[in-house]
Amino acid sequence: MGTGRTTSVGRETQSRIYRDGALGRRPVVPVGPDRLERAAQRAMSRAAWAYVAGSAGQERTVRANREALDRWRLVPRMLRDVASRSTEVELFGQRLPSPLLLAPVGVLEMASRGADVAVARAAAEVGTPMVVSTQGSVPMEVTARALGSTPSWYQLYWSSDRDLVRSLVRRAEAIGSTALVVTLDTTLLGWRPRDLDLGSLPFARGLGIAQYTSDPVFTELVRRRAAQPRTGPSPRPTPAALRTLASVARAHPGSTRANLRSALPRAAVETFLDVFADPSLTWDDLAWLRDLTALPIVLKGVQHREDAALAVRHGMDGVVVSNHGGRQVDGAVGALDALPGVVEEVAGRVPVLFDSGVRSGADVVTALALGARAVLVGRPYVYGLALAGRAGVVEVLQHLQAELDLTMGLVGVRTPAELGPQLLVRTTP
Ligand code: FNR
Repeated sequence: MGTGRTTSVGRETQSRIYRDGALGRRPVVPVGPDRLERAAQRAMSRAAWAYVAGSAGQERTVRANREALDRWRLVPRMLRDVASRSTEVELFGQRLPSPLLLAPVGVLEMASRGADVAVARAAAEVGTPMVVSTQGSVPMEVTARALGSTPSWYQLYWSSDRDLVRSLVRRAEAIGSTALVVTLDTTLLGWRPRDLDLGSLPFARGLGIAQYTSDPVFTELVRRRAAQPRTGPSPRPTPAALRTLASVARAHPGSTRANLRSALPRAAVETFLDVFADPSLTWDDLAWLRDLTALPIVLKGVQHREDAALAVRHGMDGVVVSNHGGRQVDGAVGALDALPGVVEEVAGRVPVLFDSGVRSGADVVTALALGARAVLVGRPYVYGLALAGRAGVVEVLQHLQAELDLTMGLVGVRTPAELGPQLLVRTTP
């Protein structure tokens, strides 16, 4: 029987937007995902746009991510008293206000100077947990301060230097991370034509390496490298080379003027490029990490159901079905197409999370109905950041949460747990 009670974050956001509209105020960032993306492109530099929007190869995986989401259709149910709803979910012993997390995204300074700090403030304002990237533009301790009591997870790129991995994990523990997210799909950097055409790798300009330059183990590696005599010819001082030098000096900790005279900033970039990843990793290496930390370990980048089975067998606490937003393998399976097999294989033993291609609250509903416990949002919040800093990220998150809540109600469910494949049909092809 209907109770007449109503609670809804969705309606609050929706009503506020319409009330503001009556007073002549529009949302700070476009609500529609395509308009959001187009507006962000206009606000970003060519290199930043290439880095954020670009993907691997012919970008077929990015299209596959959308096609996979578009193939599923929701079949709404009626008259089910959805007046009172909750989008809360539980993950690793924490109750989260919604099944949304901010995906780890590196080099946010390319989108906006506020970078990770602006995103963390937005996360804190909305109550959305943030997965802090190893390629952050800001040391994780600073990001954690901006997050306050809002949960943060730490995303690890597993460096070829084990001491550095240990140090990053200890720092992640010290800032109070709830979980460690190990990204498996980037032991090599994907082939990204948009960046390649511009010859643009942000890290080579000293961007996105703040977790490293703030790390005691890394800075010792850099010190040792800088002390060695340089071999090979010095690059010619072209305008582009000087711009790179200036960028590296600006990004490095300390005064830019002193950095311009020091060998350390350039040694930091070179050291980073050497130790960033370890393509020799195998499943057996996970035992070392398992011993190192008591934090829940979540493997990000799982696409094959057998890898999901291996994750569980190796004592992992969760997986994220993701193809890195299509940035790594061109022609890979659309991430949502990989989700049902992984969910079936894992059979509830650990939570399965999802990302890659999520652009709206309705997309989140579809992923949850296919068995995802929570969803990571990637590019859309970066677009919000590029357009309006913290306020832009806040709005993107509020819009996603509002549409998620309203769509849940409109398909006839009150909680994420009530979503399931019974509410979906798959269209062909
Ligand atoms: C990423 N992603 C990513 N993942 C990760 O584990 N560590 C990282 O540092 C980054 N950096 C990064 C930068 C940029 C610019 C993008 C767009 C993505 C991948 C990210 O966490 C997530 O998997 C994808 O963004 C999901 O795809 P969509 O939804 O953004 O298309």
